[in-house]
This record gives sequence, C-alpha cells and structure tokens, in this order.
Amino acid sequence: MIGLIQHVLLNLLDDSGVPGARAEVLRRVGLPEDTRFRLDTDYDDAQADALLDQACAVLHLTRDQAFEAYASAFVADSRERFPTFYAMSADSRAFLARQAAIHNVMASGLRDPERRRQINDKFHITPLDNGDLQVAYDSPRRWCGLYLALAREVARFYGDRLEITVAQCRQRGDGSCLFHLHWPELPTPQQ
Ligand code: HEM
Repeated sequence: MIGLIQHVLLNLLDDSGVPGARAEVLRRVGLPEDTRFRLDTDYDDAQADALLDQACAVLHLTRDQAFEAYASAFVADSRERFPTFYAMSADSRAFLARQAAIHNVMASGLRDPERRRQINDKFHITPLDNGDLQVAYDSPRRWCGLYLALAREVARFYGDRLEITVAQCRQRGDGSCLFHLHWPELPTPQQ
C-alpha cells in the first residue's frame, strides 16, 4: 500500500484528541514510535490492514466510523497536496470518473511492474450513457467502506447529491464489489 494512505491515518490519530494514539497504534503493530511513511513508497499491505485495525481499537471506532473520519481527513489532505486533481474536475462525477486514473498516476512511480499492475487492477470505472458511473472494486483489502465514504466526501466537497447503490460486495460474499453511482441533480452529459 502506497504510504500516502498510512501517512494520513497517522495524522488522523494525532488529531483524534486521544493522547498517545499514534504511538500506541505503532507499538501494537510492532513499528517504532518515530515511523514515517513516504508518500511515494509501497509498504506491506498486511501492515496497512493492521494499522487500520489498531487505529479502530485505540480510537474505539468501528471500521465504518473510522472510514468516515478518514475520508474527511483524506479529502482535506489531498485538496492541499494535489489541488490540480480537484481543479480539473467541474463536479464530483468528473472527479470520481478520474479516480482510478489518479491511482494509476500515484502507482506510476513504483519500480515493481507487478505492484503497479496490482494497484491499477483494483478499480475499473465505466461511464454509462446517462452519466452514471459503474465502479468495480476488487482488492484483497476489502476496504469498500472506504470507497463509499470517500465518494460521499467528494460529493459533499463539490456540493453534489450522489446516490450510491451497492450491487455486489465482497464483504457479503460476492467475488468483487460493484457500485452504481447516480447524480439525480446533474444534467445528462452530451454524447
Ligand atoms: C486526490 C485523490 C486521491 C489520491 C491521491 C488517492 C491515492 C490513493 C493511493 C496512493 C492509494 C494506495 C493504493 C495502493 O497502494 O494500493 C489509494 C487507495 C485507495 N483509494 Fe484512493 N486516492 C484518491 C482518491 C480516492 C477516491 C475519491 C476514492 C473513492 C471514491 C478512493 C478510494 C480508495 C480506496 C478504496 C483505496 C484502498 C484500495 C485497496 O488497497 O483496496 N481514492 N488511494
């Protein structure tokens, strides 16, 4: 998992108001207290899962509650860090249509082609004629709750009403996740 994700999680622990949360989570995962995650480096996926689990335990949050808090912190962070990704999208539909491409840009700096391929394969986004998006998410992480929280947060940022239908979900036993995104108040794009 590229370190941007863990970096934002550690900042969220700092901002949680729970004294020593960052140090405690790192200790539980077996990492030194001064651990820093580089934004351009790929780290162990199982470690990212463990960081999330321990963050939930230390902050007394369910995974979904943690994803909600994380999504808000992540969008605030990424707006500052990558303003162009937001500026180039007029609305949340345009932004969410680009999300997989943004991930691919982030992965493009990794040396290992197999890891780049794994990151690129996690999301496939299909724009439909009526402007809806169909998003296939296939990852052993099964962080679909994060997908949903981030999509809602992006829609909030742009002031758009977004309706999401979960057509398939790995959490409930399907082979992969499939989300259908619909913007009831945005006009149908011109063909
Ligand atoms: C500027 C915007 C964004 C940036 C820079 C960004 C960057 C990243 C990076 C670097 C990862 C780690 C990839 C890996 O190592 O596998 C990641 C993971 C993830 N991102 Fe994004 N992302 C952005 C927006 C979004 C949005 C809008 C969504 C959802 C609507 C999203 C959903 C996810 C999910 C669910 C994962 C976990 C994937 C997995 O490992 O299963 N991201 N993102």
